[in-house]
Amino acid sequence: MTGRRFTADDPDRKRWQDPEQILSSIGLREGMVFVDMGCGEGYFAIPAARRVRNYGKVYAVDINAESVARLAAQAEKEGLKNLISRVGEAENTRVCEGCADIVFFGIDLHDFRDPVAVLRNAKLMLGPEGRLADLDWKDEPMEMGPPLGKRFSIAKASRLIESVGLRIQTVQEAGPYHYLIVASH
Ligand SMILES: C[S@@+](CC[C@H](N)C(=O)[O-])C[C@H]1O[C@@H](n2cnc3c(N)ncnc32)[C@H](O)[C@@H]1O
Repeated sequence: MTGRRFTADDPDRKRWQDPEQILSSIGLREGMVFVDMGCGEGYFAIPAARRVRNYGKVYAVDINAESVARLAAQAEKEGLKNLISRVGEAENTRVCEGCADIVFFGIDLHDFRDPVAVLRNAKLMLGPEGRLADLDWKDEPMEMGPPLGKRFSIAKASRLIESVGLRIQTVQEAGPYHYLIVASH
């Protein structure tokens, strides 16, 4: 990730992005399996693990070993045994086939070296009723976030998601700076 890294419960980020609200809006509930690709230090993965509780599972994958170590330490501190973290490239990592209720991308689809390969993997991990949730930066000038040239517009992200054979279900605003696309088989 270029720029600042955010731990779970970061108070500055919470001012402009509420993870609980986003996890609610994608329907994450107790008992579900949640896969967080490009999880960073767990801004979404940690609250997701608290939410799915012991009956559910969170798989958190990131290419950055240092971020994964920090996330794992936080999970251990909180006794979140349902969080399984892994260092890996999203392009080549599948935590399972057909197990996921939700595969989540937290402001990172535009960061991946090969987003189509990552989306293909996501599709294979989704269960029959599973949903892919892509939260990302709006493609417009603003005081924070990645350079405009790096961002994916809603149209571009939708095209990429559809290119792997998933169907867009909803597109909505997620706070002042982000959009949220939900897709399924
Ligand atoms: C903008 S950060 C978002 C982190 C986290 N999702 C969040 O919302 O705080 C993007 C993350 O994607 C990770 N990343 C970039 N390329 C990756 C890849 N090919 N495979 C896995 N993770 C990757 C980075 O290490 C970084 O942690």
